[in-house]
Amino acid sequence: MLRPMRKVKVSLGDRSYSILVGTNLLSRLGLECRSRGLGNRCAVVTDKHVDGLYRKAATHSLESAGIEPSFITIEPGETAKNLKSVNACYDQLAAQRLERGSFIVALGGGVVGDLAGFLAATYLRGINFVQVPTTLLAHVDSSVGGKVGVNLKAGKNLVGAFHQPSIVLCDLDTLDTLSEREFRAGLAEVIKYGIIYDAALFRQLERGLDALLKREKAPLAKVVARCCAIKAEVVAQDEKEGGLRAILNFGHTIGHALEAISSYGKYLHGEAISIGQIAAARLSRRIQGLSQSDETRIENLFVRAGLPTRVVLGKRERSKLTEAMRMDKKARDGDVRFVLADRIGRVHFGLNVPTEHIHSVLDSLSESRHSRSR
Ligand code: NAD
Ligand code: GLY
Repeated sequence: MLRPMRKVKVSLGDRSYSILVGTNLLSRLGLECRSRGLGNRCAVVTDKHVDGLYRKAATHSLESAGIEPSFITIEPGETAKNLKSVNACYDQLAAQRLERGSFIVALGGGVVGDLAGFLAATYLRGINFVQVPTTLLAHVDSSVGGKVGVNLKAGKNLVGAFHQPSIVLCDLDTLDTLSEREFRAGLAEVIKYGIIYDAALFRQLERGLDALLKREKAPLAKVVARCCAIKAEVVAQDEKEGGLRAILNFGHTIGHALEAISSYGKYLHGEAISIGQIAAARLSRRIQGLSQSDETRIENLFVRAGLPTRVVLGKRERSKLTEAMRMDKKARDGDVRFVLADRIGRVHFGLNVPTEHIHSVLDSLSESRHSRSR
C-alpha cells in the first residue's frame, strides 16, 4: 500500500531539513517553501527537458502560495555542468534581481541540483535553496547531503561547496516521464546503498527489482525513502567527508574517471558508476575478502537492472583513465583511495590498492560475462 508521504530527517543542527517522499508533491512546493519562510521570490533553475514537463506545475504551486518565480533553463545533461553555465546563470540571477531574501529551486536531475546548489552556495555569498529532484538518481542521492558543484575538464565535481538545501521534495510522479535508460541509471545508486550499508535492502532489491523496473509507486516509495535515510545517517555523522561519507563513493573512483575520459558524453553517471562498482566488487574480492558468492550477486543485480558491467579500453584510454583517477578528490599525494566491501552491506574506506590489481581488474572488465564464466 502506498503511504501518503514518507518523511526522512537530515539532522545537522541548525541546518537540519526534511526529505519528503511521495506522490503529487510538486503541488506542495509553494506551501512547503512558504511554511519555511523562504521568501517571496525565487529563481527556478531547471533544464530544457524538465522545463517543458514541469514548469507549469511548479509555477502554479509557487504562485498559489504567493511566491513569484522566475526561470533559468540550462541545456540538459552532464556536458552543461560546468563553469560556463554557472557564469551564464549568475548573469541571469543578477538580471532577475534575486536578492539575499530570495531563494533558488533546483527542479531537475542531479546536474540541475548540483549546479543550482552551487549557484545558491555562491551567489550573494550564499542564499537558500530547495531541491525538487526529478530523476531516480537525484531522488536517492544527489539532492541529499549538500554536495554541490560542477565539473572541470580535468575531473568530475572538482569545483564545489557544501551547501545544504532547506527541504527536498521527492515527487515519485515525476519519475513517470523519465526515460528507461535514465531510470535504470538511477538504480545504480540504489544498489550502491545495499552494498555499502544495508544487506537487507540488497535482498529486497534482488526480490523486488521487477516491481521497481515497472515503477510501481509503493515499492519505489519504500526504497527511495530507505536510500535517503541511509544517506541522511551517513551525512549526519560526517557532513564534510572527513571519513565515513567516503563510503558513498563506492565505485565512483573508476566511474568518475570513465566519465572524465569520455568528455562526460558517453556514459550516464549511473552507467559509469555501475561499471565502477563491478570493478570495486572485483577489487574487494581480491583485497578485502569479499566472497565469490557476494561478488556474483552484485554483478547479477547490475545485469538484471540493465546496467553496463563491462568496458573495453585501448592502451591510450587506459593510461588516461589511471591519470583521471589520480584527480579523484579522495586521492592523497597522488595515491588513489578506494572504498571496498568485505561483504554485502559493509565497506571500508581510504584503502590503497596496488596498481597491478587495478590493471588486472580493468583487463577482466573487457571480457564478456560469458567468456569469463567459461
Ligand atoms: P541529469 O540531471 O543529467 O538528468 C538526466 C536526464 O534526464 C536529463 O536529460 C534530464 O533533462 C532528464 N530528466 C530529468 N528529469 C526528468 C523527468 N522527470 N522526466 C524526463 N526527463 C527528465 O542526470 P542525473 O542522473 O539525475 O544526475 C547525474 C548528476 O548527479 C551527475 O552530475 C553526478 O555527478 C551528480 N551526482 C551528485 C551527487 C551529489 O551528492 N551531489 C550524488 C550523485 C550524483
Ligand atoms: N554522492 C556522494 C556524496 O554525497 O557524498
